[in-house]
Amino acid sequence: MKIAFFSTQPYDIKFFNQLKDDFGFELVYFESALTTQTASLAANAEAVCVFVNDKLNSDVIDALAAEGVKIIALRCAGFNNVDLDAAKRNGIQVCRVPAYSPEAVAEFAVAILLTLNRKTNKAYNRVREQNFSLNGLLGFDVHNKTVGVVGTGNIGKAFCKIMLGFGCKVFAFDVIANKDLEAIGVEFKPLQDVLHCDIISLHCPLNDQTKHIINDTTIAMMKKGVMLINTSRGGLIDTKAVINALKSGQIGYLGIDVYEQEEKLFFRDLSSNIIQDDQIQRLMSFPNVLVTSHQAFFTEDALHQISTTTLKNIKDFHEKGVLDNKAAFLV
Ligand code: NAI
Repeated sequence: MKIAFFSTQPYDIKFFNQLKDDFGFELVYFESALTTQTASLAANAEAVCVFVNDKLNSDVIDALAAEGVKIIALRCAGFNNVDLDAAKRNGIQVCRVPAYSPEAVAEFAVAILLTLNRKTNKAYNRVREQNFSLNGLLGFDVHNKTVGVVGTGNIGKAFCKIMLGFGCKVFAFDVIANKDLEAIGVEFKPLQDVLHCDIISLHCPLNDQTKHIINDTTIAMMKKGVMLINTSRGGLIDTKAVINALKSGQIGYLGIDVYEQEEKLFFRDLSSNIIQDDQIQRLMSFPNVLVTSHQAFFTEDALHQISTTTLKNIKDFHEKGVLDNKAAFLV
């Protein structure tokens, strides 16, 4: 059985090839993203394997169906980039990797938080130029601060536990309160209360309810000088509103691993290009903003888990017609 991989990076090939013989699949790798133009590369493949910035809209899914594709395997947790209705209409199953390493993402959110606060990125560059001054590197104690967590699924839960370990007061907002977290001291509150914390971290999925959940109105509810971290999906944030809030000082620190228009930028070396996206350039010009290119998941452990679960999803579907890790909503 053949699986066509899109948006493939060298590390994908390394981790999937390690398992190739165990599963007995033919794996074909394409560097290009999956689009209507590239869908024909999936000819004779029963499965396609895609990543976060492959846009599987109705046209792309129709094109995959015409090539005979039976299953779309996302090698990621989020599935906001797939038109699930179009998949259902074409009888194509969609699976994902729901929890490959929640700790990888939660730990990275903490790494951004600490870097923004203690400015280790600036210190690293500074001492290499023999500038040993501390001016401009002042931070704050994270201990005793209030931390607001939006979305307490696998990743949000792991993040809450780390922040409790730092001695923070952790408040959370989710559509469903988590009893295990309540038992260890996390308080579930309405969104506006959670937005009033010293540090806010977003861990909910991107959907119709959460798109631009951070906007002019919700930013106005925040404490002046708040630290905002987003390792979930770029579309949770209205970038224009955040830029205005950074200019006014309402947002004091911004750490983003995801960006609404990231598919035109992330996972590529554009160091010799002229970037046409003025919003990301403006964001990167602030000294109190840290942008990383969707790397929170990027650990050895997570990549091993992603490749194992993805191939197992496809094998179960191929051999037994069962699919444990269906993208939600698709029954
Ligand atoms: P999950 O499905 O385990 O948890 C999501 C949580 O958000 C659930 O508890 C759900 O009830 C909650 N939620 C849903 N709608 C909500 C709303 N309107 N308001 C508040 N909470 C809401 O997902 P998981 O594994 O924790 O991942 C969270 C997100 O992180 C994913 O959707 C994905 O977009 C992102 N992610 C980012 C990665 C990166 O490398 N930067 C890697 C993996 C995931």
